[in-house]
Amino acid sequence: MGGKLPRWRSIISQLADQLNALGERLVSALAEAHDAAALESVRVRFLGRSGEVTALRRGIGSLPPAERPEAGKVVNEAVTVWERLLAATDAALQRRALDAQLDVAIDVTFPAPPARAGSLHPLRRAMEDACAYFERRGFAVVLGDEMETEYYNFDALNIPPDHPAREGLDSFYLASGLLLRTHTSPMQIRTMQAHPPPIAIVVPGKSYRRDSMDARHSPMFNQIEGLMVAPGINMGHLKGMLTGMCREVFGPNQAVRFRPSFFPFTEPSAEVDTTCPGCGGSGSLAGGGCKTCGGAGWIEIGGSGMVHPEVLRESGYDPELVSGWAFGVGIERIAMVRHDMDDIRVLFENDPRVLEQLA
Ligand code: DAH
Repeated sequence: MGGKLPRWRSIISQLADQLNALGERLVSALAEAHDAAALESVRVRFLGRSGEVTALRRGIGSLPPAERPEAGKVVNEAVTVWERLLAATDAALQRRALDAQLDVAIDVTFPAPPARAGSLHPLRRAMEDACAYFERRGFAVVLGDEMETEYYNFDALNIPPDHPAREGLDSFYLASGLLLRTHTSPMQIRTMQAHPPPIAIVVPGKSYRRDSMDARHSPMFNQIEGLMVAPGINMGHLKGMLTGMCREVFGPNQAVRFRPSFFPFTEPSAEVDTTCPGCGGSGSLAGGGCKTCGGAGWIEIGGSGMVHPEVLRESGYDPELVSGWAFGVGIERIAMVRHDMDDIRVLFENDPRVLEQLA
């Protein structure tokens, strides 16, 4: 009788067989998982809380106590290996997804969007061009504070307490005796008080007045102040310098004319006009009158004059020994004329589409 004898195998080796079989099924399931969702369902099926491994672990509880630790260890080893396998599959899937995206979405021959270069703001350019003219002639560029004392903004400039310019309506007062400067002229006094003659400076910077914003006014605006003081300085020097500056800023055919005016800190005083760059001074264009100058052929750019003897004295200079000229021109005005703009607000809105065109 050749009956079959039973085969004895250790519990652990039976468990190992089960684990090997489970591992093989896991591997073929992973081979079928083509995306993250499929991968996740494989994970749940095998390693999830109610998955196959959990069922296997439960079986350990019914083994003879002596076998349990070894059985637990073998299952844990298997699980560690499978988790690594899942992680590797996950990484591979992600890489594949990225590769697919790159293949589809990126055409390396497609022209790149043009690099956007910044540019100087039209106001900065007008300011720098005007200053450059004077710097080449040895003028120092000095900057003042935007907050000034009444003394420097008014008194020292021969603007008496009852002068209309001092009314609170025209100025931004910060505290008693302190205000946002209404012009760059205070730097005339500050510079002369700090340095003996001769003086040759330009002062670019912001000034403030209580004007409402509209096409022609802004409560904040920029000026360039000029000041030259030395023995024998006269108004001809002023006209020559302003003409040179206008040629630098607007073009070679500019002329400058003075119109009699009044400023408390100059005597005599003059408004400064320059040839209208829009029409070349003729006042008319092919289609009719020139809009830039309203047909006048001239545009006003600022005020000027010979420094008042009182201002020189207040600064510690002797008006018998030295004389000087001064001017203050509006930067916004220059920029607007240069770019044929009729609304000052465009200069402060800083729309990149506009600035790009003006660059
Ligand atoms: N400070 C004057 C203003 O803001 C402009 C001005 C006029 C400045 C005459 C000067 C000057 O230096 O001499 O309206």
